[in-house]
Amino acid sequence: MTAPRHFLQLSDFSRDELEHLFARTRWIKSEFKSYRRYWPLVDRTLAMIFEKQSTRTRLSFEAGMHQLGGAAIYLNTKDTQLGRGEPVEDAAQVISRMVDIVMIRTYEQSIVERFAAHSRVPVINGLTNEYHPCQILADIFTFAEQRGSLRGKTVAWIGDANNVFNTWLQAAPLFDFKLNVSSPDGYAVDAARIAAVGRNHVETFADPMDAARGAALVTTDVWTSMGFESEGDARKRAFEDWQVDGEMMRAASADALFMHCLPAHRGEEVTAEVIDGPQSVVWDEAENRLHTQKALMEFLVLGRIETQ
Ligand code: CP
Ligand code: NVA
Repeated sequence: MTAPRHFLQLSDFSRDELEHLFARTRWIKSEFKSYRRYWPLVDRTLAMIFEKQSTRTRLSFEAGMHQLGGAAIYLNTKDTQLGRGEPVEDAAQVISRMVDIVMIRTYEQSIVERFAAHSRVPVINGLTNEYHPCQILADIFTFAEQRGSLRGKTVAWIGDANNVFNTWLQAAPLFDFKLNVSSPDGYAVDAARIAAVGRNHVETFADPMDAARGAALVTTDVWTSMGFESEGDARKRAFEDWQVDGEMMRAASADALFMHCLPAHRGEEVTAEVIDGPQSVVWDEAENRLHTQKALMEFLVLGRIETQ
């Protein structure tokens, strides 16, 4: 049996494979919008394992699998034996004998890696503390729909250097753009991650306004990610000045877009003026989780299908 492909980090896929996913996403989205049925995954089953909460990820994978003709099963770790200490390796052996593809949302990246190492079927990272690769698929696809290629452009990340940021960092060399990042003292980007990407593709700024200057895309995320709730009060104080507001958007390029993976906290990391304003594409971004992940599941289960 050949080892299955997994999507645990964005960098698990080559630029060519990611471009293939985007081409398939365009076609799958267009067929869906035209009410044409596309059921390549009839009789295939997706298991979705959630150890953290979710709205978009659950809905987009579950609806996406149904729309591809297959079935999706929601498993919450609290309701399974995983929540009672069954080893991840054992769960992977069993679950992957019963379904065709698995999506996991959990804490440490090592958990999805251990699961994948013992899985007979492809495993998708639906968010870990370190990465959120499905989110960046949707974000780059959304940018391409609105503005074209990111090549040579600047993306500004304002705020916590978290899982979504780490994934943008992997995207920068793959798609040849520059990532400007500004985070408060004590929450700075891990130096090893910057070194891994190289200074051509990432620059850190003390002042978030400087990070935003000239950017084609300004993006941010919550000040406190899932799993870090106990730090919430300290983070509220530390991140007070790392809010994307109208002034920051005016410092960016005149046609800059605003993105946020959601859920958002208006009045914290972003003002209502920005997220509900004309430069914001957050609803398209959320919708594109559905279309990009359908292309991802098609690729992982069936391999490369060329668009006619
Ligand atoms: N952006 C995102 O992954 O949202 P959910 O937490 O609702 O899945
Ligand atoms: N960084 C956030 C993203 C939620 C989709 C978190 O990990 O909670």
